Amino acid sequence: MRIDIVSVMPELLTSPFQHSIMKRAQEKGLLTVVVHNLRDYGLGKHAQLDDYQYGGGAGMVMMAEPIANCIDDLKKERKYDQVIYMTPDGDRLDQAQCNHLSLFKNLIILCGHYKGIDERIREHYITKEISIGDYVLSGGELAAAVLVDALGRLLPGVLNDETSALFDSFQDNLLAPPVYTRPAEFRGWPVPEVLLSGNFKAIEDWRMEKSIERTKARRPKLLKSDES
Ligand code: ADE
Repeated sequence: MRIDIVSVMPELLTSPFQHSIMKRAQEKGLLTVVVHNLRDYGLGKHAQLDDYQYGGGAGMVMMAEPIANCIDDLKKERKYDQVIYMTPDGDRLDQAQCNHLSLFKNLIILCGHYKGIDERIREHYITKEISIGDYVLSGGELAAAVLVDALGRLLPGVLNDETSALFDSFQDNLLAPPVYTRPAEFRGWPVPEVLLSGNFKAIEDWRMEKSIERTKARRPKLLKSDES
């Protein structure tokens, strides 16, 4: 999968992909992340990217032309499956959406700033709008990093044990069960007996039971529908 991220703050997007699983995914050639500085497409001698909004009101709006020119340039190089805009008023990201998006080959992610982007870009360029939650960040970069991480780890071959993403919380609308590691007793707190039993059927049953218990207690709506 190739992901091109368009941003006015590309510095915010260097570290998230240089470590751990995202780093390995890129080294293995399974994921390519390229960050483009929208400033390179700014207008005039000040490389202007934003302007006052028509109709008045506080806050600057990202202008259509730099964004359109940048995306046009990217589209000259390859065909993109989706042009995604990170915005708090987009569709709320969940695991099902991540699973779906992870099947695409080429994605563009546009990060918003200020008061947002000129609506004409949303109408004519953007094919999907995604929010990572009902709160407002100062820009779309951290949200884009969340999305890329969530997609990258789903790509076949990225995780060592290919099945492990299948047992994540939210796959099958269940939260993951508790996990333990050595020692078997820490400060008088023991690991549940069954996990030391070597009885794989019993362990599997225990994990399913705990998953259901945890989902009922913390996210009951997951059990009833596709909603969180
Ligand atoms: N940009 C600002 N806030 C955001 C959010 N919650 N999700 C996605 N992009 C955003």
